[in-house]
Amino acid sequence: MLSLCAIWDAHTGKVSDKWSTYLQVYEAALAPFREDQIRLLEIGVQNGGSLEIWSKYFPRKRHIIGCDINPTCRALEFEAPEIQVVVGDAGAETTFTEIDGICPEFDIVIDDGSHQSADIIRAFPHLFTRLCDGGVYICEDLMCGFQTPWNGGLERPDSAAAFFRRLSDYVNLEHWTVPEMSETPMTFFEERFGLPPMGQMLSHVHEIRFRNSMCLIEKRRPVENTLGLRKIAGNVAQVEETVQAFEGMTAEASLGPTAGKVELDPKSLERRAYEALRQRVVEADSTD
Ligand SMILES: C[S@@+](CC[C@H](N)C(=O)[O-])C[C@H]1O[C@@H](n2cnc3c(N)ncnc32)[C@H](O)[C@@H]1O
Repeated sequence: MLSLCAIWDAHTGKVSDKWSTYLQVYEAALAPFREDQIRLLEIGVQNGGSLEIWSKYFPRKRHIIGCDINPTCRALEFEAPEIQVVVGDAGAETTFTEIDGICPEFDIVIDDGSHQSADIIRAFPHLFTRLCDGGVYICEDLMCGFQTPWNGGLERPDSAAAFFRRLSDYVNLEHWTVPEMSETPMTFFEERFGLPPMGQMLSHVHEIRFRNSMCLIEKRRPVENTLGLRKIAGNVAQVEETVQAFEGMTAEASLGPTAGKVELDPKSLERRAYEALRQRVVEADSTD
């Protein structure tokens, strides 16, 4: 089978526009799904080229759905019957009523929409909840969240990159979670962007990887996101012999009951940055 880069270079149909490193990242992340009857959802259709290319890359695809806010996309026609376009805002639940009607769950979700941090963050709960365990979520063009023309900045606590950095704490959820926490590490984003509480869903965050302008998240069942059992090899413990007693223990049994109640400091750096940012927004509004 041709590689994604080879398919891209040979493509003559509808136009698509991606950075060269993205193709390498996609190839590495999506090759394990290549032979599967995948269900793929991509936010951002534009000319429809990427949908055609995904269709070529996954010969056994079941659904390739593109979602775009631009109603002009409705007129796009595709040869492959598996490709469908839904017109709507990826941050609105109503858009997903239509998507759910075609396919309620996906193996691969790609956010190549507006690249505005607010849009990426608002779309995330809708997208991640529809990703199956074992699936992968990929967000493109995080560079915009660092750039001022896109309301971005390295220090902004509400950029998409900041959101995903915070989300990466959930990879270690086993070591700090308590179900009754009133404030979670995501409360800041839930308040700022009017998101539903994401609590339980985030216990499925298995792995987060960053590349230049991309973030990839693997989703798996919570039981697969634990540290596993402690494994001891060898039988000569000349310096610290107690380690041998830990063989086969869980993290909690081995390290102690670390999953105590976590009190998030309301004066944390992130909170203060958010308050400062909110003040700036209020001031900007009042001078308009
Ligand atoms: C970069 S283009 C997509 C390119 C396409 N994926 C490709 O590779 O050829 C971004 C698209 O996202 C759409 N878009 C912007 N905001 C959106 C939103 N809130 N929901 C859905 N689509 C959105 C735009 O209309 C635009 O067509």
